[in-house]
Amino acid sequence: MSEDQQLFKAGQAILNKNDFGGYTVPTQGLYPFQWNWDSAITALGWMKFNEPRAWQELNVLMSGQWDDGMVPHILFHKDSDTYFPGPDVWGADKKVKSTSISQPPVLSSVVKILCEQAKDTQLRDQTVMAMLPGLIRSHLWWYRDRDPENTGLVVSYHPWESGMDNSPAWDEALERVPKVTWEYQRRDLNHIDASERPHKEQYDRYLYLVDLFKHKQFQSPDIYRDCPYKVNDVSLISILHRATLDLIDLCEQFNVTGQGVDQLKARATLTVHNMHQLWSEKTHFFHSKDLISNTLCRVKTNAGFLPLLAGLANKAQAQHLAKEAQTWMAASKYAIASTDPREPQYEPQRYWRGPVWLHINWMIALGFERSGYRDVAEQIHNKTDMLFREFKFFEYFNADTGAGCGGNDFSWTAAIAMHWLLKP
Ligand code: GLC
Repeated sequence: MSEDQQLFKAGQAILNKNDFGGYTVPTQGLYPFQWNWDSAITALGWMKFNEPRAWQELNVLMSGQWDDGMVPHILFHKDSDTYFPGPDVWGADKKVKSTSISQPPVLSSVVKILCEQAKDTQLRDQTVMAMLPGLIRSHLWWYRDRDPENTGLVVSYHPWESGMDNSPAWDEALERVPKVTWEYQRRDLNHIDASERPHKEQYDRYLYLVDLFKHKQFQSPDIYRDCPYKVNDVSLISILHRATLDLIDLCEQFNVTGQGVDQLKARATLTVHNMHQLWSEKTHFFHSKDLISNTLCRVKTNAGFLPLLAGLANKAQAQHLAKEAQTWMAASKYAIASTDPREPQYEPQRYWRGPVWLHINWMIALGFERSGYRDVAEQIHNKTDMLFREFKFFEYFNADTGAGCGGNDFSWTAAIAMHWLLKP
């Protein structure tokens, strides 16, 4: 068996091990539930060896969709005492217990990729036709609930919603959020060394927001008015825009028309029009925006490359980003670091403050490829390849040493390797 085939088998074993019956947990112990963007990305891995299981992953995720259209960030299908905060803290009493926020909506983009790869076209057509109305409702939820002022740039209410929990991009915006005063016990530190996780101070503020959403009875207009944390997350906006374009394509392919699809088109146009608000002429880079101070989040993070994925960077911007990626790749041995290695906030082993994440590299590389920078995409591909070959399928990787960090036998790392880098 070739090395690629052995690694592919190892990836397959990870997905099988993390399969909790129709959905895949990111890793056992640390994350014992179904996470939104993890699941979508994990389906890319399943697709390589079990098509029905790939579609099932997405169907189970959609089974937790709220009536207003939101697909939650975590679905608590079964109880577990190895994770905090669980369903009681979130207090959202829905048909499937869940959190009350969402996560980067990569789902429609994944559906499009699965459609292209499907061998069982009957299963594909049935599944996608049944899924499209829910997908449209979920995108319209983002645009309606999270962009009530029609800016084209949706608003995130919580760092967990970005999927990049403790990114230094959020530091200043999060400081405005009060800390909870009640006692709680974190469970993540039972699994992972504290040096690789967010600080208590950040957790106190994350939990304040969770409490606030509960007190507001999850009513978006009230939260929008009163939430002390409101951010235009450049990564979320880019992933949503790419997914909306992919969803519009899917609707065309499957002859789905109507008001919903027209609204998606109108919103996508608005995003293109207003994206320049997240570009800094000073740094020549895209930044998220703190809507309360009305300023761009200062620190450069890997999120700033993602507009390329969505075709939201113009030619000159793309050229700056290509140069920037080369500089980042030269500044840390492993890449792309989640925070610019030249920033004082850079910590190569701490979660979203420096480590490399495979699924983000995949999206950044796709962005460069789509923008005509094949050489940069290829370099990112090669650097990513080194990581799991040398250090195996960890949650994320130290950007200086490559050492695996966080959870081991991690589903999305295995799935990205199987989808992007390995041959079955
Ligand atoms: C962490 C990550 C988030 C991911 C989750 C499960 O919270 O920051 O992006 O979805 O773990 O893997």
